[in-house]
Amino acid sequence: MTGNLAIIILAAGQGTRMKSRLPKVLHPIGGRPLVGHVLTTAARLEAQHIEVVVRHERDQVVAALSEEYPAAVFIDQDEVPGTGRAVQVAIDALPDDFEGDVLVLSGDCPLADVDTLSAFLDEHRASGAPATLMTAVVEDPRGYGRVIRDADGGVDRIVEQKDASDDEAAVREINAGMYAFRASTLRRYLPEVGVDNAQGEMYLTDVPGLLRRDGDRVAASVVSDVTVTFGVNDRAQLAEVGRLLNARIVRRWQLEGVTVIDPATTWIDDDATLAPDVTILPNSHILGATTIAAGATVGPDTTLVNCEVGEDAIVRRSDATLSVIGAGATVGPFSYLRANTVLGAKGKIGAYVETKNAEIGEGSKVPHLSYVGDATIGRGVNLGASTITANYDDVNKHRTEIGDEVHTGSHTVLVAPVRLGAGAKTGAGAVVRKDVPAGALAMTVAPQRNIEGWVEKNRAGTGAADAASRENSAE
Ligand code: UD1
Ligand code: CA
Repeated sequence: MTGNLAIIILAAGQGTRMKSRLPKVLHPIGGRPLVGHVLTTAARLEAQHIEVVVRHERDQVVAALSEEYPAAVFIDQDEVPGTGRAVQVAIDALPDDFEGDVLVLSGDCPLADVDTLSAFLDEHRASGAPATLMTAVVEDPRGYGRVIRDADGGVDRIVEQKDASDDEAAVREINAGMYAFRASTLRRYLPEVGVDNAQGEMYLTDVPGLLRRDGDRVAASVVSDVTVTFGVNDRAQLAEVGRLLNARIVRRWQLEGVTVIDPATTWIDDDATLAPDVTILPNSHILGATTIAAGATVGPDTTLVNCEVGEDAIVRRSDATLSVIGAGATVGPFSYLRANTVLGAKGKIGAYVETKNAEIGEGSKVPHLSYVGDATIGRGVNLGASTITANYDDVNKHRTEIGDEVHTGSHTVLVAPVRLGAGAKTGAGAVVRKDVPAGALAMTVAPQRNIEGWVEKNRAGTGAADAASRENSAE
């Protein structure tokens, strides 16, 4: 691919059919806004200019995109509506001496990939036509502009659904809304485009008809995979396009050596990275910039958001955000790892455990029913069932520090700030408010007192009293 290239991405429309507070182009699929996918693809096409045309909720759209796509320049559309006007303001914002090709993309068509668009541009450049349309032949053309061809098969014009006669509406070749133009062609013809149509808008789709009027040629590139042209206008299409994108991502990882048992219920964001020999069990969500190392098994029923999972780790039926799960570690079932949990190699977070801001050392275990927050835990530690860090005194959060090889008894409450020295132990039910020196046993529960015969005396006639009598008389 050679030559000057400007890419114009249309993102100014309101997206009325979404019935949403959020601008349509910001609705996410695969962990990115719709228009973010278009920008990601555009960034790989070696363009000199990338322009995004905005208007509806422009501040929100710009704020959502400007940091991640620093190469994009945002252009404001004025009150004149329509895709033709959107392209016109973008062309006017290019340097006057820009000559070359202009690729027009829609912010609501996220499935056109780099290969498709490169091939499309190559075709446009090879044909020498001043304009090339991407088209597709679809089963159900409703909602799209129709491509009307002349007697010898060339493109004659595009007719919008709302302006189409019955004969025109029956045409199944649709305008995909992606175009390559010579910059000079747009400068020449956009000023001629009016608003005399069913929607009272300046249609970009009028340009081909104007070229033909002047005896010029309009090329068409018919894509074989119609899904690359799918756009999002409503929530049903959002789900459908999201599903297609996910299927593409899952397949990409499968071909890289990842076992995905059930692609239909496995959701992987575009930014996630999976190593060969990872296994993903059904109903798992691998979101954000999560990375999963070789040999790890994730799922079923697991959500990972921006996590790092080490080699051969196992994460079952759990939910984790911004957490690191070390090599060979195990998590779950039914645990909740909140931000800044770091579980060391071969460590364990077992069933019904919540963690947050917690560093759990190599080989250490939090096996059952615990809350561990704001804690630093050494190596080889075992927290007994239902050990809790009481990190919050209603005003401030405090840290708990636990040395290597500490074992806590079941139902220990560690009232932070508190430190347990290496090798220390706590008795069952201990409420630890003071530091425990290395190697000490902390006991806080009063010695047990048994009041013999209490039940038989005070609860006579109950099942408990009868059972106690039977056992006592048998002895
Ligand atoms: C458009 C095409 C139609 C094509 C379809 C493909 C026109 C007139 N029609 O219709 O032929 O089949 O795309 O998906 O172009 N936008 C602006 N400024 C505006 C209006 C829209 O930037 O004033 C942006 C929208 O944000 C959107 C894109 O342009 O990203 C397309 O607009 P939309 O209203 O969805 O057009 P369609 O009705 O889908
Ligand atoms: Ca559309």
